[in-house]
Amino acid sequence: MSRVLVTGGAGFIGSNFVHYVLANTDHTVTVLDALTYAGNRASLDGLPADRFEFVHGDIRNAELVDELFARHDLVVHYAAESHNDNSLHDPRPFLETNIIGTYTLLEAARRHGTRFHHISTDEVYGDLELDDPARFTEDTPYNPSSPYSSTKAGSDLLVRAWVRSFGVQATISNCSNNYGPFQHVEKFIPRQITNVLTGERPKLYGAGENVRDWIHANDHSSAVLTILEKGVIGETYLIGADGEKNNKDVVELILQLLGQEPDAYDHVVDRPGHDMRYAIDSTKLRTELGWMPQFSDFESGLADTIEWYRAHTGWWGPEKAAAEARYKEQGQ
Ligand code: NAD
Ligand code: DAU
Repeated sequence: MSRVLVTGGAGFIGSNFVHYVLANTDHTVTVLDALTYAGNRASLDGLPADRFEFVHGDIRNAELVDELFARHDLVVHYAAESHNDNSLHDPRPFLETNIIGTYTLLEAARRHGTRFHHISTDEVYGDLELDDPARFTEDTPYNPSSPYSSTKAGSDLLVRAWVRSFGVQATISNCSNNYGPFQHVEKFIPRQITNVLTGERPKLYGAGENVRDWIHANDHSSAVLTILEKGVIGETYLIGADGEKNNKDVVELILQLLGQEPDAYDHVVDRPGHDMRYAIDSTKLRTELGWMPQFSDFESGLADTIEWYRAHTGWWGPEKAAAEARYKEQGQ
């Protein structure tokens, strides 16, 4: 039994991991989360009080972080500014949380000798052409495009440096695009579902040819737990579930599942510097650590996600207007 500290555990993927760990292990979990616009305390409702604690605080607060590291065995670091469009509008919070925040945690891991797992993204590798047969591997050179992905790349490099220079006991994972319940309405899939549910038309950037490699958030959580249990210190593992789809096909599938005409969406101004394609080769994680994704049917995973948004308007409703106001300012 371990005492696990999860940063960013009130966000989309972090909260999924917290539920997953409490359901599948006997560990106790503490969440450290600043509850930014992207954090939602309600995503952690119903967890067992004797095994779960919530701490409202910032990962840049070195004193608080030090006190928490002193009483935990391992730390899983999800907290981040996570949305590309926001990073194009105002990069500063991305530098603060993704770089300074990660640095603050690494210094605490160094002082306390704490096992540390850093959650990162496939976007650190840049993008691939549509007709390129290649996929990202652990050996692909870093080539990030946006302020978001460059700060994530910077945070990965800090982790690598703290492992090599100071012997910090860390692993890193880089995962592809997640979908599932509890994702903020600013992100692509929830935005389109909740647009339809509120009588708006879905919004596709540019021609919609961009490809993302979709994985269910539960599969991401099982992969992270596998790395915590079997991963080798200093190693990086790519997490993906062979889910490449272009954005146009995803929007059309959402419309079909919601009983709408397949062309009932708008093309809007493209994202500046928009990455064309991400694709993950997760052979290392599968062969060396024995992990396998469980959600292989995207259409049924998407249908369940749509049902979740239909049934949880109280969870996403308060955020919807603010997210759309931010998009309107950017012409999207
Ligand atoms: P999210 O935006 O839904 O959640 C981020 C959480 O971090 C929120 O609860 C927020 O309140 C918290 N947070 C932000 N700044 C903080 C700070 N300074 N101190 C403490 N807490 C703070 O993000 P997400 O989509 O769940 O992503 C989580 C992690 O996974 C990120 O590191 C992201 O880079 C990575 N990732 C995401 C995806 C994806 O598809 N969403 C894919 C691969 C990797
Ligand atoms: O690849 C992993 C990354 O996936 C994570 O690191 C990020 O935290 C996460 O936000 C996600 O980044 P993307 O930029 O790929 O996700 P987003 O949901 O913003 O957009 C997915 C695709 O959909 C992208 O090609 C842009 C497009 N898009 C997005 C929105 C919000 C649209 O066409 N219309 C939209 O309204």
